[in-house]
Amino acid sequence: MRDPWPSPPPAPAPAGVDLHLDLRLGPGQSGRRAALEHALRDAVRTGRLTPGARLPSSRRLATETGLSRGTVKAAYDQLAAEGYLSARQGSATVVAARTGTPAPAPRSPASAPAAPPRHDLRPGRPDVSTFPTAAWLRATRRALATAPASAYDYGDPRGRIELRTALAEYLGRVRGVSADPERIVVTSGSVQGLALLVRVAASVVAMEDPGLPFHREVVRRAGARVVPLPTDAQGARTDLLAGLAEADAVVVTPAHQFPTGATLHPSRRQALTSWARNGGLVIEDDYDGEFRYDRQPVGAVQGMAPDHVVYLGTTSKTLGPALRLGWMVLPPHLVQPVTDAKRHDDVHTGSLGQLALAELIRDHGYDRHVRACRLRYRRRRDLLATRLAGRYAPAGIAAGLHALVALPPGGPDEIDVRRRAARVGLALETLGEFWHEPSPANPRGLIIGYGASREGAYPAALDALAGVLA
Ligand SMILES: Cc1ncc(COP(=O)(O)O)c(C=O)c1O
Repeated sequence: MRDPWPSPPPAPAPAGVDLHLDLRLGPGQSGRRAALEHALRDAVRTGRLTPGARLPSSRRLATETGLSRGTVKAAYDQLAAEGYLSARQGSATVVAARTGTPAPAPRSPASAPAAPPRHDLRPGRPDVSTFPTAAWLRATRRALATAPASAYDYGDPRGRIELRTALAEYLGRVRGVSADPERIVVTSGSVQGLALLVRVAASVVAMEDPGLPFHREVVRRAGARVVPLPTDAQGARTDLLAGLAEADAVVVTPAHQFPTGATLHPSRRQALTSWARNGGLVIEDDYDGEFRYDRQPVGAVQGMAPDHVVYLGTTSKTLGPALRLGWMVLPPHLVQPVTDAKRHDDVHTGSLGQLALAELIRDHGYDRHVRACRLRYRRRRDLLATRLAGRYAPAGIAAGLHALVALPPGGPDEIDVRRRAARVGLALETLGEFWHEPSPANPRGLIIGYGASREGAYPAALDALAGVLA
């Protein structure tokens, strides 16, 4: 199909860039031209002006600094002669590709992204190389072409109505969520929703054990105490909630327990909604609910008790964590306090990404992408099972982007596996990292993420895993 919104022709080169220069005279300097030269040299040396950066035209810089155009031109010529700038007849003056600029200071280890592992089987990530760039671009173009000017202003803390409307339709259709746009708050990833909810409505939070340590820390930093809620092959032990008198909220992953992969048993769903109806706050983290491979996904628990359960969703597994786009569907009594907390946290989530996502959902590009991902991840999960067949099997339901592979007694333990994996450049995580408290009694296993790897690299990652477990 022809793209109804063809790319515009390249924009004309801008008339010049904004440039902050300190033109005060330094010690031993005389003359305004010397001050300008000094300021420009300094900006290049310190990396504020990087190679290739365009300088304003001499006419514009002269107007802005109050210097004569001749003075600016003379300063540019001097710096070009010194090798800082490069100027060609008829084109803009730019910072030269190689000057005496010292290399930028190395980034501290904390800020440097770790080198990507040779083989990546870490859980929690989709294959971001499959991001639907073309569809996202089309959605963005359509969204911006029709957006009112007010879209660029401050907006509703709950997010754009276009996205909340699209989400209400999508979540009802795909996940059985009872969603009204008025009760949806768009967040910076689902993690922000979790933090806001805890701040507003919880002081002691029951969290699945094992579960995501990052989320436990988020809950603590939002001011609540965390208590463990055991899990088994039927998911979280929600039948124990009534006995956890101190907990006023619970965070659960009913569709696909993270990290064991269990789905919440119907009797446990009942126990959960009864507890919610008795005043407990249920936070349903539906982080990978779209990905079920063996049957139709079970609908969200929220659909059974929309006045008592908060539903959290995210684009982090479907499109990519970089978007930082998540949402919560709230019971009526929490809409105002959570909206208020969101306003005081960051006013609202960026509107332009929201508009693009609304467009992508509306024209079903989101559905098409999720369907393609579902096929891909299903194949990868099958491949994992085939590759390990005989000695190991993925536990839990066929769903999501990860599987628990239990390590039976007598075989390699988690430390052995980690050590061997490190030797062959294989990144993976062990179940041991997800328990609230370490204990020799904790079952042992690997949490194999089959999403993160690039498509072509996945078979080699599985070979590496098989070698490590051999
Ligand atoms: C259990 C669980 N919930 C939610 C998320 C998504 O979080 P966010 O939307 O903040 O990226 C993740 C991501 O790894 C996760 O593992």
